[in-house]
Amino acid sequence: MLPLLALLPLLHLAAANVYQCHSKLLKGCICGKVYVNQETLFTVNCTNLMFRNTNMLEQLPEETQMLIFTGNHIPVLEMNVFGDEIDLSGLKVIDMSNNGIREIKGKAFHHVPSVERLILNHNNISISNEDDGNFHHPRVFSNFYNLQELHLTNAFADNTDAALANDLHDIFVNSNLNKLYKLHLEQNEIKFFKDENVFCDLPDLHDIYLGDNNIPSLNFNVRCLKKLRYLDLENNNIDKFRQDDLEAFDSLVTQNNKFTLELRGNPFRCDQAIRDLYNWLLQTKVEVREKDHLECHQAKYGNKYILNLKNLAVAKRAKVSQAVTILVIVLSLILVTLLAAYAYVKKDKVKSRFGPVFDALTRKVHYTTIESQDV
Ligand SMILES: *[C@@H]1O[C@H](CO)[C@@H](O)[C@H](O)[C@H]1NC(C)=O
Ligand SMILES: *[C@@H]1O[C@H](CO)[C@@H](O)[C@H](O)[C@H]1NC(C)=O
Repeated sequence: MLPLLALLPLLHLAAANVYQCHSKLLKGCICGKVYVNQETLFTVNCTNLMFRNTNMLEQLPEETQMLIFTGNHIPVLEMNVFGDEIDLSGLKVIDMSNNGIREIKGKAFHHVPSVERLILNHNNISISNEDDGNFHHPRVFSNFYNLQELHLTNAFADNTDAALANDLHDIFVNSNLNKLYKLHLEQNEIKFFKDENVFCDLPDLHDIYLGDNNIPSLNFNVRCLKKLRYLDLENNNIDKFRQDDLEAFDSLVTQNNKFTLELRGNPFRCDQAIRDLYNWLLQTKVEVREKDHLECHQAKYGNKYILNLKNLAVAKRAKVSQAVTILVIVLSLILVTLLAAYAYVKKDKVKSRFGPVFDALTRKVHYTTIESQDV
């Protein structure tokens, strides 16, 4: 009882830590210290406030360490979102998810050298648009010298797939994201990267999340990523890996002692490549998550089959021995039938050839019986 009572004032203190932000422009936003991810950060939280511009962000308290600005409606992030007046040298996290952002102006983010995590999930961003040169801003993340995590899950407009993938490379080359550790690009309908070295200018990249896209093969260079330890390719469109891809994965284990791969939900084809993949899985040091759930797809007689990789390998072996057994049985049956047919066709000949012998035998038996009767 006593320890609980002793905690009560602390709880009050925690609640009192959060308050309506003082600035008039930040009306509705909550300011105060929030405990997240094992640290306490002074947070400004402007969630679902129907803001239509970002003017109020020029009045952020200078102690702000985390900005949550989500669920508003901001089609364009204008130049210099935070203004020129404030010193945001303590700002570590920016979350601008779910704002319907379509365009980010080239110099939208200034004064963000200390930001470590930038989250732009669930927006509608067009980085590149052929009709409008203004949309092309390869330096959009260039001021994030200390960025470690970039979250771009479902961040881009649906129609930008090809152009997006092209521009990603320009963005990474031009942004000096030398400390970027984690990159989220899930749910963006990505198919191809124009430049297979798209991620090669991110020297500290450890984790790439590319799940829920339409990537058809390992169509980007992973060998250049000296620190890569995790690659998520779940739910893409991969139907096979080449031997060279598998070797590239193996080389990442050699570099980093550990490399983890997510491959579930890809439509692998049931062919020689899947056998190679299966054999590789048996001996590689790469950690492939849930490898027992990998499947391959096969079309046969107009039907589509989905086979579990493990079952496929077992079934292959079982099928072979089964086939041999069936073959032996069928051959034996044919042989017996042929012999029977032969005997039937030639039955008269057989009779005529063995008939006299038979008659002689019966006669002999006959005589012997008589003789023995005589005795
Ligand atoms: C921000 O505010 C929203 C709504 O008020 C709340 O649901 C969310 O948990 C808050 N986020 C943080 C990190 O405090
Ligand atoms: C995203 O933008 C496209 C056109 O660029 C538009 O058709 C679509 O409705 C937008 N989606 C959302 C959720 O704003």
